Amino acid sequence: MKILEITGGKTLSGTIKISGAKNSAVALIPAAILADEESKIFNIPEITDIDALCDILSFLGAKTTRDSESIVIDPSKMKNKEISDKFSRKLRASYYFLGALLGKYKKASMYFPGGCSIGARPIDLHLKGFEALGAKVKVKGNKYTVEAKKLVGAPIYLDIASVGATINIMLAAVKAEGITTIDNAAKEPEIVNVATFLNNMGAHITGAGTSRIKIVGVEHLHGCFHEVIPDRIEAGTYLIIGALCGKKLKIDNIIPEHLDSLISKMKEIGVDIEIGADYIVVTKKNDYKQVSAQTAVYPGFPTDLQQPFCVLLTKCKGTSNMTETIWENRFMHVPYLISMGADIIINGDTLNIKGPTNLHAAEVVATDLRAGAALVAAALSAEGTTRINNVEHILRGYEKIVEKLQNVGAKIESLEI
Ligand code: EPZ
Repeated sequence: MKILEITGGKTLSGTIKISGAKNSAVALIPAAILADEESKIFNIPEITDIDALCDILSFLGAKTTRDSESIVIDPSKMKNKEISDKFSRKLRASYYFLGALLGKYKKASMYFPGGCSIGARPIDLHLKGFEALGAKVKVKGNKYTVEAKKLVGAPIYLDIASVGATINIMLAAVKAEGITTIDNAAKEPEIVNVATFLNNMGAHITGAGTSRIKIVGVEHLHGCFHEVIPDRIEAGTYLIIGALCGKKLKIDNIIPEHLDSLISKMKEIGVDIEIGADYIVVTKKNDYKQVSAQTAVYPGFPTDLQQPFCVLLTKCKGTSNMTETIWENRFMHVPYLISMGADIIINGDTLNIKGPTNLHAAEVVATDLRAGAALVAAALSAEGTTRINNVEHILRGYEKIVEKLQNVGAKIESLEI
């Protein structure tokens, strides 16, 4: 089993280059099968979620060619097959094959997706969207089959501005007959990245990034070139690490506007940050002020940064409050932070975090991707050597995290035990 061993207290300086966005890449790869020819996608992050999606593409007979930064996907010889549990449970984003296969073949069959255990993570909104387009949904145990004689555009309203449902409905609707509108659509930048990819293939999507997306169905989609946007969550995680132990730490190759909510909170705390066109330089300070923050759909404070942000809040003078409004089980990092010396009380959906506290090393476990990221941040700023178990979770979403941190002076090793 892989573990991370981190000795805290080092000052991190230099440049960390941000990779392509996991939550965009994991949608772009299934979306590529909608074209009748090959597409090339640049800036694909080298993370295990991408490997899992490529396994599904190969299982379906789509040809994939990967190098360190891009992937070529040729769907011309693929066949529609049921995606078994062994594939679908590896990650949440496997469910994008439901929308893509339905959009391409008018039929898709797969088992309930995997993903971090941060909540029940239902897919009812995805299925309601498919039904609105004319598909019949059959659920047998945890196997989902969606099938339509014809896909016809329809007005769809999402009860929750769901990222996954917004993208999956787009994938199913791009080749439907007529016009589909998605109201109360999620506005995350990753959705814009997927809509732009589909439009590069010849789709007619307008309004992505707003709460109303309009899709005019087309008959054919052709191959194209596309690029994954920088990962705002990876960038935010390293910004938080910089606020904890950085000295002129440069987070490079980012779109700062995608981090407005985090930047605003960090300024409120008193973090020393200098914002450039495509980078941010961050330096640790010693007099951070308490704040209250709550997660929300984009452009609100991202739920995926809630857990790492809690570590920064342990350094703020007074009692800070962090409220999680998106997921019902996203506080699994808290007991481990407490074991490292944090003073945190769970109050329903809100954490009351007293500071400043000095963190010390402990033996901890990554329960999910972003909880693991929080433990890395905590270990880097703690006294002593921390061991983090179950790091497979972290490697799913942070490309070359050990090398990136070693390059800026962190004492971090990945060990097999
Ligand atoms: C995406 O998950 C991200 N994952 C998550 O990031 C992120 O936390 C989440 O969006 C919110 O920003 C990927 O993009 C692969 P949702 P998704 O549908 O699409 C409820 C990470 O750390 N809901 O926007 O699954 C749901 O339970 C991961 O990178 C329904 O009720 O999230 C949740 O409470 C973790 N029914 C809320 O909506 C549905 O059909 C938001 O979920 C769908 C969602």
